[in-house]
Amino acid sequence: MENLLSQIAAYKQEIENTQANGSANLEEYRIRFLGTKGIVKAMFGEMKNVPAEQKKEFGAILNEFKQFAEAKYESWKASFSGPDELTNEIDLTLPGDPMNLGSRHPISLVRNEIISIFRRLGFSVAEGPEVEDDWHNFTALNLPENHPARDMQDTFYLNQNPDWLLRTHTSNVQVREMEKGKLPIRIVCPGRVYRNETISARAHCFFHQVEGLYIDEHVSFADLKQTLYFFVQELFGRDVKIRFRPSYFPFTEPSAEMDISCLLCNGKGCNVCKNTGWVEILGCGMVHPQVLENCSIDSNKFTGFAFGMGIERITMLKHQINDLRLFSENDVRFLQQFTASL
Ligand code: PHE
Repeated sequence: MENLLSQIAAYKQEIENTQANGSANLEEYRIRFLGTKGIVKAMFGEMKNVPAEQKKEFGAILNEFKQFAEAKYESWKASFSGPDELTNEIDLTLPGDPMNLGSRHPISLVRNEIISIFRRLGFSVAEGPEVEDDWHNFTALNLPENHPARDMQDTFYLNQNPDWLLRTHTSNVQVREMEKGKLPIRIVCPGRVYRNETISARAHCFFHQVEGLYIDEHVSFADLKQTLYFFVQELFGRDVKIRFRPSYFPFTEPSAEMDISCLLCNGKGCNVCKNTGWVEILGCGMVHPQVLENCSIDSNKFTGFAFGMGIERITMLKHQINDLRLFSENDVRFLQQFTASL
């Protein structure tokens, strides 16, 4: 019994000395002294070892010990719970943390700008699937099976069905619009496209395009030139010059590539234009009569032009970005530099 009494005295001393701070410590205290496996319970358990004539006295000491431990717990708890304590710890007059607003991705900004220029010319936006069948991506566009020009665009095919692929250009949307048979057609097709290319500063396995299509009676190459000239002047400024170089696409005849005068050196020659003074920005041409016929459009009555450009390439020129990979790395230090006014 002597032994138990000195133990209780030591515990009381410990309780006395316990610093009342923090709710985590309070919980530790509760578990140690008042929990179901705690010290108070354990001391009550000692009762059975105490001789019968001393049980009464020991019981009174135990009860007093229990009340002592509980009182400490209650006063501790009351000292920091409740609203008063909050106002002590937090300065409510402090300004809030600033909330960082996100910014639009540069590709989205430039895409929207391209679309808005063509909207002003009466073009509307058409979209289509990224997983496409062979017909809409290739065959209808005058690229039958085994056509060597299919190698111009390295294609991802789907394992489930060899007829399915990830579209290599948004021309698939043009086919889908032509097949609807509602003429005239004046559309731009923005979207993501995929090509099986090794990732580098200048190439990626996916990128974004805006393609355009205008089909009506009497559409000529002059309309194509004037439309694209207006477009680049709106996008890059009045001083930009253009030139067309003959090219080849299976779905257009004649076909051309359009260059603009280099914006960085004003045509004097620099490493962006490889000292030529010109940079290529898009492919274009008059829609091949076979493509019109493939989509059940009378090629004797209707003509049209089409063009296609990579949004990444234009964004790189506009903002002097030298690595294509930056667009898909999601580094906020890069992304934050673009605002809607750019
Ligand atoms: N579809 C072509 C490409 O992705 C671009 C293009 C479109 C060229 C329309 C001419 C006419 O490379």
